[in-house]
Amino acid sequence: KRLILIGPPGSGKGTQSPIIKDEFCLCHLATGDMLRAAVAAKTPLGIKAKEAMDNGQLVSDDLVVGIIDEAMKKASCQKGFILDGFPRTVAQAEKLDEMLQKQGTKIDKVLNFAIDDAILEERITGRWIHPSSGRSYHTKFQPPKVPGVDDITGEPLIQRKDDTAEVLKSRLDAFHRQTEPVINYYSKKGVVASLHAEKPPKEVTSEVKNVLSS
Ligand code: AP5
Ligand code: ZN
Repeated sequence: KRLILIGPPGSGKGTQSPIIKDEFCLCHLATGDMLRAAVAAKTPLGIKAKEAMDNGQLVSDDLVVGIIDEAMKKASCQKGFILDGFPRTVAQAEKLDEMLQKQGTKIDKVLNFAIDDAILEERITGRWIHPSSGRSYHTKFQPPKVPGVDDITGEPLIQRKDDTAEVLKSRLDAFHRQTEPVINYYSKKGVVASLHAEKPPKEVTSEVKNVLSS
């Protein structure tokens, strides 16, 4: 399967991805995770991306299209993939279509994580992540077994620099202005399924499984 996950910051894309990935044996490509790794390693890509990310704005289309193009060549992605956080502009969606057309494939489903903005601040400000795996926790909704520590590796959890109420406002603004049109773009192709992303994580997982097995 070739899937796209679209939704505002905190809607649950990163939480559902590992579950869907394991269930359907797909590779998980999250542009936000890849960009954060590049920023942490101070690579040329990371240096270019940092300022926009810190301010909650989108990184340029060329940079993210480049990383996705590279990542999709991995053998583990040939059977199928989950794109988490990409495409985020109509221009990115058009580029992706071109890339897939060349391979003779196309997107099977776009999962739209529909949710009210009002719920997102609490989700974002309570989030803790395990940077190397991208696993997310939440102090109230998904607490780790030991506070501040990843359940699987025992490594420390950190908070994302852009997870403040202030930066969230810019991220939401970017979502509504630049990313919502991408949902319309795929609606016209008849591949969008909308989820009730405000429900508890397990219920969202069931909705996802229903959509993907039908
Ligand atoms: P990115 O990393 O993609 O961030 P985002 O889209 O803002 O999404 P989040 O990761 O914040 O939300 P999520 O939906 O994954 O939430 P999660 O599941 O963790 O992008 C970061 C930046 O990189 C961008 O601002 C931009 O600068 C740049 N960038 C990335 N891709 C780009 C692109 N294509 N083009 C240009 N720039 C790009 O959940 C959040 C919290 O809620 C967690 O604590 C979780 O435990 C909890 N939670 C999850 N689900 C539930 C639930 N159902 N009920 C209760 N709590 C829940
Ligand atoms: Zn995420």
